[in-house]
Amino acid sequence: MNIVEKIQNLKKEKNAIILAHFYQVPEIQDIADFVGDSLGLAQQASKTSADMIVFAGVHFMAETAKILNPEKLVVLPDMEAGCSLADSCPADKFGEFLKQYPDHTLISYINCSSEIKTMSDLICTSGNAIQLVESFSKDEKIVFAPDKNLGGYINRITGRNMVLWDGTCEVHDILSIEAVIKLKTQHPDAKLIAHPECKAQVLELADFVGSTTALLQFTSTDDTQKYIVATETGILHKMKQNSPEKSFLVVPSDETCSCNDCPYMKLNTLEKLYLAMLNDKPEISLPADIIVKARKPIDKMLQLSLKLGLIK
Ligand code: 13P
Ligand code: SF4
Repeated sequence: MNIVEKIQNLKKEKNAIILAHFYQVPEIQDIADFVGDSLGLAQQASKTSADMIVFAGVHFMAETAKILNPEKLVVLPDMEAGCSLADSCPADKFGEFLKQYPDHTLISYINCSSEIKTMSDLICTSGNAIQLVESFSKDEKIVFAPDKNLGGYINRITGRNMVLWDGTCEVHDILSIEAVIKLKTQHPDAKLIAHPECKAQVLELADFVGSTTALLQFTSTDDTQKYIVATETGILHKMKQNSPEKSFLVVPSDETCSCNDCPYMKLNTLEKLYLAMLNDKPEISLPADIIVKARKPIDKMLQLSLKLGLIK
C-alpha cells in the first residue's frame, strides 16, 4: 500500500476529515476532503460530523477548528507550524495596548492566538474583513489586530480610521515592490493579483486584491492569460489546475529566490500527516475557559458571514 492509500484507509477507520489550506504542498491538497482559505476552512470545521479533524494548515487554524469542536480530536501534522503574524501579537503586550482604547470594538484577524480571540468582539478573515468592518456604523471606534497591512487596506477601502496593531506576516510583508515593478515591466500583458497581507505599495499597484479563495476565483473566471501572483506559492497548484492554459508568475521575496513559500505552512508533509492520523497526535488541546470565550467572536463571524451572503 502506498502512503495515499494508507491515509485513505485511516480516514475511513477513524471517521476523519482532512482540511487543507491553499498554501499546503500539492500532494496534501490532492488528498484533502476540502481545500480552502481561512474562512472556508473555519466554516467546514464548524459543520463537520467527523470524529477526527486532520488540519493541514498552521496552528491558529487548527486551534480555531478545536474551538469550534471541543469534543473532537484535532491533529496538526507538525506542531511547529506556527504563524509569524499570530506571533507578532503576544497576548500580554496586546492586553496593555488595548487598555488605551477602552471604548473601542476589537476586530481581530483570524491569524491570531486563542488568547487574542478571547479578547475580541469579532473575528474576521481576509475573505470577509471589509464587509464585516462595514457592518458597523462609520463612527464606531475600532481596534484592528494583528495585521497592519490588512488593517491599512481596509481603512483605505472603507474610509475608516481603525487603530492598528503593528503586526505583519513575514511572507507577504517581505514581497519586494522592486520585483513587482520589474515583473510588471517585463510582462505588460499580465495582471497583478495580491493578498491583502502585502504592503500598501504592492496593493496599490494590484489589479485585484483578495483572499486566496477570491484570487483563485478571479484567475478562474477572468479572461487574462497571465498573472503576477503576490501571495504564497501554494495557491498556484489550484490556479494551474483550474486554468491549465494560463501562466502564473510568482513575486519573489528577494533576488536569490524565485519562490515565495511560507516556512510554517510548508512544515506539513504527507508523511507527517499520515503519522498524525495513525498516532492521534500532535493533538490540539485548549483550556475549557479559553474555548468558551474564544468561540463567541468566531461564531459571530460565521453568523454575520452567513447573513451577509459571504458563505452559504
Ligand atoms: P486566507 O486564507 O484568508 O486567504 O489568508 C491567507 C493566509 O495567510 C493564511 O495564513
Ligand atoms: Fe502566517 Fe503569513 Fe504563513 Fe499565512 S503566510 S501562515 S499569515 S506566516
